[in-house]
Amino acid sequence: MGPPRVGPPMSDPTATPAALLPLARAIAREAGALILDAIEGERAVEAKTSPTDLVSEMDRASEALIVRRILEARPRDGILGEEGAVRPGSTGVRWVIDPIDGTTNYLHRIPHFAVSIGVELNDITVAGVVFNPAVDELVAGSLGGGATLNGVPIRPSEEARTGSALVGTGFGYDAGVREQQAAVVVQHVLPRVADIRRSGSAALDLCWVACGRLDAYFERGIQPWDICAADLIVREAGGRSETLEGGPLTLSTTWIAAGAALFPAFRALIEHATRAP
Ligand code: IPD
Ligand code: CA
Repeated sequence: MGPPRVGPPMSDPTATPAALLPLARAIAREAGALILDAIEGERAVEAKTSPTDLVSEMDRASEALIVRRILEARPRDGILGEEGAVRPGSTGVRWVIDPIDGTTNYLHRIPHFAVSIGVELNDITVAGVVFNPAVDELVAGSLGGGATLNGVPIRPSEEARTGSALVGTGFGYDAGVREQQAAVVVQHVLPRVADIRRSGSAALDLCWVACGRLDAYFERGIQPWDICAADLIVREAGGRSETLEGGPLTLSTTWIAAGAALFPAFRALIEHATRAP
């Protein structure tokens, strides 16, 4: 993740963005169909890090399917999945998976959730797919290859004024963290933008910045699987997507994304908002 860096040469012809993207797309579609099929059924649900951080048997079933398909096609690749899949791999390729981003929406049968699959080569994200099966929207990007929504090229909005910007955000699952996030949003951001949306899926928020539905997005404490694919998609669509602090993603960093015209002013707004007493 983060801005593109120059990596070692791609010596394996099967490990190119053009070769990895179709596989990621096919797997995301299959996992999306699996979860959509089960949305009306009864599901076993457990809490993870807090009573509001839920995982269902469908998150686990989706991750198991994705891992199985990856290893059938590329048995020596590495994997990092939200629900516990971790494999080091030996090819330089690592798949970063969120089997359902927007689990709370999914459990409430709100049709706004996605399968997110990012593919890194030597630590650089080279392909990404975010698929919302409920509305059959597949957003994809590959390094140097642009970004598309259902095959049509996308780009962020040209909005340049923070006061006119529609801004997506999200909240963590820890009550103390939420209290701080709510103060930042309500006291310092909401009065200075057009409005706020809390959609329940960070991956879809970023994709909506990439295609201009949202003008900007920010959130503190997101995880690699939430944004691996969608971060690349924003950058390939022509937007900016990075940490507020300028360094790597950690649990205490704030991720921000916006179209190029808005990004500097939006970053200044969020910097001020997160530092304000
Ligand atoms: C969550 C969603 C949500 C964001 C949280 C994420 P999950 O992912 O992306 O929008 O605000 O930070 O943890 O738990 O649904 O995979
Ligand atoms: Ca998830």
